[in-house]
Amino acid sequence: MKLMIINGPNLNLLGKREPEVYGSTTFEDYFNQLREKFPQVELEYYQSNIEGELIGKIQEVGFDYDGIILNAAAYTHTSVGIGDAVKAVETPVIEVHISNTHQREEYRHVSYISPGAKGVILGFGLQSYDLAIQSFLS
Ligand code: DQA
Repeated sequence: MKLMIINGPNLNLLGKREPEVYGSTTFEDYFNQLREKFPQVELEYYQSNIEGELIGKIQEVGFDYDGIILNAAAYTHTSVGIGDAVKAVETPVIEVHISNTHQREEYRHVSYISPGAKGVILGFGLQSYDLAIQSFLS
């Protein structure tokens, strides 16, 4: 089982960024915990702040990997291009969010990713990624 986690803009700042919303753990630390928890999974991680690079990564792994776990961050609410990339590839994509976007500003209630996603997991903190991996394994 080969899974790719793709994180969008500002998620490189996890641990420092608005800790009251996103927690105080860095993604690198959390990613290492995930690798230890799921040794049977070939787990990769990619982060970019650039929309086109995120589209490029989805295209690159989207005909080869068994699953993509995508937190497109702010691009979730704006990017037709990332939404189209999710629809274009064969690999199933699970959309994740750390926060419950529906409890937040109205502009975060819209997702251009959800229509092409296999499923959506949000609001469980970093555990949203763990739940997404479990869903690919079950
Ligand atoms: C986020 C929610 C988005 O609205 C926000 O722009 C992010 C992070 C989340 O994981 O909760 O950067 O995707």
